[in-house]
Amino acid sequence: MRVYQYENDADLKILRAMAVTVPRDEDMSAVIDEMFEIMRSSGGIGLAAPQVGLSKRLFIVEVEEGEPLVFINPELIETSTSFAKNDEGCLSLPGVYGPVMRPKKIVIQAENRQRRRFKMEATGVMAVCVQHELDHLNGILFLDKMEERKRVQLLAQYQQLIMGEIKKG
Ligand code: CO
Repeated sequence: MRVYQYENDADLKILRAMAVTVPRDEDMSAVIDEMFEIMRSSGGIGLAAPQVGLSKRLFIVEVEEGEPLVFINPELIETSTSFAKNDEGCLSLPGVYGPVMRPKKIVIQAENRQRRRFKMEATGVMAVCVQHELDHLNGILFLDKMEERKRVQLLAQYQQLIMGEIKKG
């Protein structure tokens, strides 16, 4: 398992796809374990299945260390009318960060690792992270939600980073 990258055309195709519902009887635990491993070793706080090449409606979050959360077939059921702008980053575009405006508070419903339905209210970093990961399931990346000027800046920065990596070999 590896994290799919924005600059790779084949990877981007998956990152841009609409992920499909996870069937009721499909055991995702092995995939989930691997996802947590790769997320933690990359220093991320969230990871969506399409980011590891799996176009399924599943993402994981670990905002507080030791409090792993699994969201299978998630549905956003409420969003606040008040918004907040926060800097976001993404393991599919490592090394660059930019401001995204999102609802401050959300209520989300999903199935956990044991496929039990749960409902959760989130604010702060958790709300940001959950919305960012949920977007991944719909082929949306955080840069899509940035102001044009900031997006251009971020992509230029990312391009430079990648060129640097290529030179380093
Ligand atoms: Co991301």
